[in-house]
Amino acid sequence: GRLVPWSGPQSPVLSPIHTAGEGGEAEPVRLGRVPDLEEGQALECLEAAYGAYDHGRGPWPTLSIGQRLSHMEDFVHRMIARKDQVIRLIMWEICKSRQDAEKEFSRTVRYIRDTIDALKDLDRASSRFVFQEGILAQIRRAPLGVVLCMGPFNYPLNETFATLIPALLMGNTVVFKPPKHGCLLYEPLLEAFRDAFPPGVVNMVTGSGSRIIPPLMESGKVNVFAFIGSSQVANSLRQRHPKLNRLRCVLGLEAKNPAIVLADADLEVTVRECVLGGLSFNGQRCTALKIFFVHRSLAQRFVRELSDAVSSVSLGLPWQDPMITPLAEPDKPDYLASLIDDAVAQGARVVNEGGGSRYRSVFRPAVIYPVDARMRLFHEEQFGPVLPVVPYDDLEEPIRAVIESPYGQQLSIFGTDPGRIAELIDPLVNQVCRVNLNCQCQRGPDTFPFTGRKDSAESTLSVFDALRAFSIRTLVATRDE
Ligand code: G3H
Repeated sequence: GRLVPWSGPQSPVLSPIHTAGEGGEAEPVRLGRVPDLEEGQALECLEAAYGAYDHGRGPWPTLSIGQRLSHMEDFVHRMIARKDQVIRLIMWEICKSRQDAEKEFSRTVRYIRDTIDALKDLDRASSRFVFQEGILAQIRRAPLGVVLCMGPFNYPLNETFATLIPALLMGNTVVFKPPKHGCLLYEPLLEAFRDAFPPGVVNMVTGSGSRIIPPLMESGKVNVFAFIGSSQVANSLRQRHPKLNRLRCVLGLEAKNPAIVLADADLEVTVRECVLGGLSFNGQRCTALKIFFVHRSLAQRFVRELSDAVSSVSLGLPWQDPMITPLAEPDKPDYLASLIDDAVAQGARVVNEGGGSRYRSVFRPAVIYPVDARMRLFHEEQFGPVLPVVPYDDLEEPIRAVIESPYGQQLSIFGTDPGRIAELIDPLVNQVCRVNLNCQCQRGPDTFPFTGRKDSAESTLSVFDALRAFSIRTLVATRDE
């Protein structure tokens, strides 16, 4: 509820964009600085949230839904007033193209408004009286307590808000940590939070996650852990909670979404969707297409057309609105190069000319063929602009790969025979949570359920499901004889 003046240590926030420094040496543009909280200061933020919740008796959880909604509407107005600044920071901090940064902002505003509408519906549907077997009961949706929210760098605004907003609307109080790449954009938004919500309801911590998040979990005062990012980080953090069985987790994790290209696929549509699915925002999307199984009869043509299309995608800086921009994470180019080296050492090749070449943080997208299960690219989530193509003879091969994958978010099937596709839907939809027909994988519209099986998710993130995830159904009941 207040902005705390900071005189402690700070870390520089660096852009993936380089500029000529003194003496002509290229160096990343310095965008600002962010406070490096110590454990004690992070715990103070948690105490603020804990106090504002006050075992469900605090001013926020006891407000009526209508009152909470008007705080949220006030927040949206304040957020929109800061639109240009937030969009500019998304472009500089994570190098999203201007168009995509604007889309992230407007999508988030829409997400909040849809969540407000969904809460009105949920309230109408939930807060009702039921009478059965002599018991008259009023059912109510109630909050769960303190929610710790952490979002990923690729949607630093949208995916942090995807959990923070429904958590708040249901009457919980929140501590959130913005992603390391994508934290400065919260500077303008903090004022909006402070002015729109009562003290202690929204709290932000920044600094080293491995230093400040474990003590928050160990305190036992976090009731819901809402995390979008790597499975390994999510698992190691939740294990720190002293009463794991009482911790509710809302997790959006990793994926290795496959495209399965059938022998009769329309190549023009398939290649267009595979480029979009594999390369939008440099492939830095959990929903990106990350492996391409193509029937052998079509594989050579597919690879040729895909490489031609990949060779002509635009590279540039965010304000030029290209498809490929500098990668957000400084160590990503080396990681991608190691995946390509591993595949090449085992017999695959880089098909498109210049694929995988680098200029500072810009990585030219690469089509790698033929990839097989011995290679790391077959299994690891590259989260970057590398497209591995796997030829298959029998459809059982990609189906088996989907079944054996540790992930289960989405997949895409490309083909023109409706009967053939229909036969595949049932076995495959039981392995993932969304099957896309002749189109790329994607999360939206945000009112659709968004989740995954196996190591890809726990709980469902979408407008309606998230409101349910951050609340519990309770009853007030009496015997009515
Ligand atoms: O990174 C995962 C995002 O939820 C992907 O969302 O499909 O709208 O890009 P998107």
